[in-house]
Amino acid sequence: MAIPHKLWCFVLIILPHFISIIFADEYDTYIIHMDASAMPKAFSTHHNWYLTTLSSISNTHTNTIKPTTTLSSSSSSSKLIYTYTNAINGFTALLSPSELRSLANTPGFLSSTRDATVKRDTTHSNQFLGLDDDHGVWPTSHYGHDVIIGLVDTGIWPESRSFGDAGLGPIPSRWKGACESGTQFNFSLCNNKLIGARSFNKGLLAKYPNITIAMNSARDTDGHGTHTSSTAAGGAVEGADYFGYAPGTARGTAPGARVAMYKALWDEGSLLSDIIAAIDQAIADGVDVISISLGIDGTPLYADPIAIAAFAAMEQGIFVSTSAGNEGPFLATLHNGTPWVLTVAATTIDREFHGAVVLATGASITGQSLYPGNSSATELPLIFPKSCTDAKSLINLKNRDIIIVCVDTNFTLSDQLYNTGDLKIAGAVFITNTTDITFYTQTSFPAVFLNLEKGSEILNYINTSSQPKASLSFKQTSLGTKPAPRLTSYSSRGPSPSCPVVLKPDLTAPGDQILAAWPSNSSVTQLKSGEIYNDFNIISGTSMSCPHAAGVAALLRGTHPTWSPAAIRSAMITTAGFLDNTGYPIADLGLDNLPATPIDMGAGQVDPNRAIDPGLVYEAGRDDYVRLMCAMNFTGKQIQTVTRSSNYSCSNASLDLNYPSFVAFFRVHDGRDSGAREMRRTVTNVGGGRAVYAAKVTVEGGLNVTVSPESLEFERENEKKSFVLRVEDPRLVKNNSIVYGALSWIESNGNRVVRSPIVVTTISPDDLLPHG
Ligand SMILES: *[C@@H]1O[C@H](CO)[C@@H](O)[C@H](O)[C@H]1NC(C)=O
Ligand SMILES: *[C@@H]1O[C@H](CO)[C@@H](O)[C@H](O)[C@H]1NC(C)=O
Ligand SMILES: *[C@@H]1O[C@H](CO)[C@@H](O)[C@H](O)[C@H]1NC(C)=O
Ligand SMILES: *[C@@H]1O[C@H](CO)[C@@H](O)[C@H](O)[C@H]1NC(C)=O
Ligand SMILES: *[C@@H]1O[C@H](CO)[C@@H](O)[C@H](O)[C@H]1NC(C)=O
Ligand SMILES: *[C@@H]1O[C@H](CO)[C@@H](O)[C@H](O)[C@H]1NC(C)=O
Ligand SMILES: *[C@@H]1O[C@H](CO)[C@@H](O)[C@H](O)[C@H]1NC(C)=O
Ligand SMILES: *[C@@H]1O[C@H](CO)[C@@H](O)[C@H](O)[C@H]1NC(C)=O
Ligand SMILES: *[C@@H]1O[C@H](CO)[C@@H](O)[C@H](O)[C@H]1NC(C)=O
Ligand SMILES: *[C@@H]1O[C@H](CO)[C@@H](O)[C@H](O)[C@H]1NC(C)=O
Ligand SMILES: *[C@@H]1O[C@H](CO)[C@@H](O)[C@H](O)[C@H]1NC(C)=O
Ligand SMILES: *[C@@H]1O[C@H](CO)[C@@H](O)[C@H](O)[C@H]1NC(C)=O
Repeated sequence: MAIPHKLWCFVLIILPHFISIIFADEYDTYIIHMDASAMPKAFSTHHNWYLTTLSSISNTHTNTIKPTTTLSSSSSSSKLIYTYTNAINGFTALLSPSELRSLANTPGFLSSTRDATVKRDTTHSNQFLGLDDDHGVWPTSHYGHDVIIGLVDTGIWPESRSFGDAGLGPIPSRWKGACESGTQFNFSLCNNKLIGARSFNKGLLAKYPNITIAMNSARDTDGHGTHTSSTAAGGAVEGADYFGYAPGTARGTAPGARVAMYKALWDEGSLLSDIIAAIDQAIADGVDVISISLGIDGTPLYADPIAIAAFAAMEQGIFVSTSAGNEGPFLATLHNGTPWVLTVAATTIDREFHGAVVLATGASITGQSLYPGNSSATELPLIFPKSCTDAKSLINLKNRDIIIVCVDTNFTLSDQLYNTGDLKIAGAVFITNTTDITFYTQTSFPAVFLNLEKGSEILNYINTSSQPKASLSFKQTSLGTKPAPRLTSYSSRGPSPSCPVVLKPDLTAPGDQILAAWPSNSSVTQLKSGEIYNDFNIISGTSMSCPHAAGVAALLRGTHPTWSPAAIRSAMITTAGFLDNTGYPIADLGLDNLPATPIDMGAGQVDPNRAIDPGLVYEAGRDDYVRLMCAMNFTGKQIQTVTRSSNYSCSNASLDLNYPSFVAFFRVHDGRDSGAREMRRTVTNVGGGRAVYAAKVTVEGGLNVTVSPESLEFERENEKKSFVLRVEDPRLVKNNSIVYGALSWIESNGNRVVRSPIVVTTISPDDLLPHG
């Protein structure tokens, strides 16, 4: 089976707890959350407190269970792998199970997470988003000038032209970061664009002491981090392309922003402890935006280290953009469904990459292809075998100078590709209706992918011709594809398993077939002739949409330096576009092109030029998120783990977060739930002065949704007004179903529309909560 690997979103898998029971005597690394306020006054620093705590548990317990590794005699300082100060209060340490149990009884211990490894699961995209040199947010924000975007990723290729610093002023003086030298990485490689480069692998080395890190520096040997960084903030590079596809000027979403790379994902493995260390340092260094194209599946908020570290970032005013994941189109598959971050789905843009089958009759049939090589398939016989799935039926093909035609009717495309790829034939035509076509088009041999309709043309020709022949041609790029955007099939869907009462994903951004920078020394793909290299690559996934959204956040931060992360997120959500370029609702490739719902894509596709001037924003801060966690019945220790503080109050617990979207859960119609749901929101006027807004509600299915008051009048900037959105008992909503709507605040005598999705469902949130 050929496993498609063109989808980029790293997923962390927490290994089941039983593994640590089987290896009862084995040391392992644990991330420990501590209550900083419990530190005895005798200690001058947390670091010293942690060291002393660790040595106390080793002294008392080395005699109870004899460790099997040679690490039994390790001192407390060698046990302590990281001390964290910003992202979480706590540390990572190498502990035996008995030591962990002892630690859990020491004063100040809150919770622990076993360190876990990570499983790897152009330019034009910005024009498609409406970014323009002459109008809108690019000139207004000076391209995100002086905003600092930190990325937690596989590193960076500093020589890439996308990280050239021509035209950029000096590094902002508030920057406290550094450019660390290491293997093939001299600090002098940083410049006024790439202002920080650090790497984190103590957790990896503690867990796997035997491994050798081949590239022990921030240099990227994978490509993912170079691609995401240049997508977010790459400078302009003329003459970029991918072997003739997508030619043009490559440019990131915030081309004036600065880049800081925090490498925590390694070819040798990637661990949670290193990712937290990266975020911890990014907070200390003073980044404005963090982009994290990875996530942890199936973990409650209080045990998700990325959610916890992002909470600290949020408190420092840092905007955190995350990827929803690539597990769609199934419901409740997303990760990073955290109320204090932005969660981004992935859509297509209005660009396609084509190859053509030119029949001997002269007719040309166009399909999708991203084959990067030079085709020699000219005037060759078209062969249509019984099956392309079965290797044996194909292996007898004596003449390899043929173009084989394969029909995929039931999800056999990857087998067909694997099978035909081994045949050394001149070319192939795949007729398929798969919705995930971009998984497959970057083939190692000449291949064109046709839909069923176009495929029937070629099949008819084969049937009616005694000697069917054709040629293949490649490297065509078409712009203006309609409809676009469309939600990709693989984009992970809501509701958020870790917090179903807050609508996730928040919005969508371009993620499909995105051209961005790539390390010169990492192959972009493999051809029959060997690996091939290029300074740009085209890849797909929510890993690619996340840095687009991070770039938009940087543009907003550059324009409105005082806005909170919640205000920036609100501006992006309430101005997102829900119609495509044909004027119809954005279609869902994963669901027969039916309209994508808010559970699938949130509010719609981010629209930077409208987000810059949203009119009203929904604010939320630390205390609002605490009230939410209280109402989710988190324990005190769980809340302290997230907030890193014991100074919080649960007296006003509420699931009703002041969020720019609405989710109302109803029980089934058994007579017990005839009530209504009321959701209270407060909006802040950021439109500049006097303004009047009128509510407009659109809902499906006979729901009765009312807004009170129906009109909001503002006298001045930053004035707040509250309203209540009430959903009456939705008798028409069937059991286990979801209906959708929207609330729009429409400015009188103005252009602003502040739109929020509404989701009303009879699916119980308990069915979605991991512990429920
Ligand atoms: C790093 O760069 C500096 C300044 O360009 C240079 O003096 C130094 O020799 C370089 N170090 C290495 C190890 O290449
Ligand atoms: C480390 O390498 C040594 C020698 O090659 C081997 O005996 C040992 O099992 C390895 N340890 C681990 C944890 O892989
Ligand atoms: C394709 O042909 C062009 C022009 O002859 C050449 O520069 C390029 O290297 C070839 N590409 C590959 C992948 O062989
Ligand atoms: C197209 O694909 C769907 C699955 O996505 C399948 O159910 C359907 O039968 C296919 N249509 C044809 C004509 O093969
Ligand atoms: C589709 O799948 C079924 C079950 O695996 C198989 O019996 C059938 O032959 C397949 N059809 C084609 C055209 O491959
Ligand atoms: C081609 O001909 C075969 C046999 O004559 C027939 O079964 C098949 O439906 C035809 N296919 C097309 C696409 O016309
Ligand atoms: C890239 O690869 C070439 C050839 O293997 C090597 O000489 C060069 O040092 C590498 N460059 C970097 C920056 O790693
Ligand atoms: C929290 O606990 C209360 C009291 O037991 C219960 O009514 C409520 O449904 C729980 N909330 C959640 C989100 O589980
Ligand atoms: C405790 O939290 C409240 C509410 O966030 C805040 O006003 C107060 O300053 C905090 N007190 C301390 C000692 O941090
Ligand atoms: C709880 O809400 C009430 C009424 O809105 C408010 O007066 C009070 O200050 C709030 N308490 C806390 C701890 O936030
Ligand atoms: C919904 O489910 C409940 C119990 O599960 C049942 O009593 C009720 O009739 C169902 N309602 C509808 C509209 O199907
Ligand atoms: C809708 O709800 C409002 C507010 O509760 C109520 O006044 C109104 O009568 C309801 N309308 C319908 C058609 O049920």
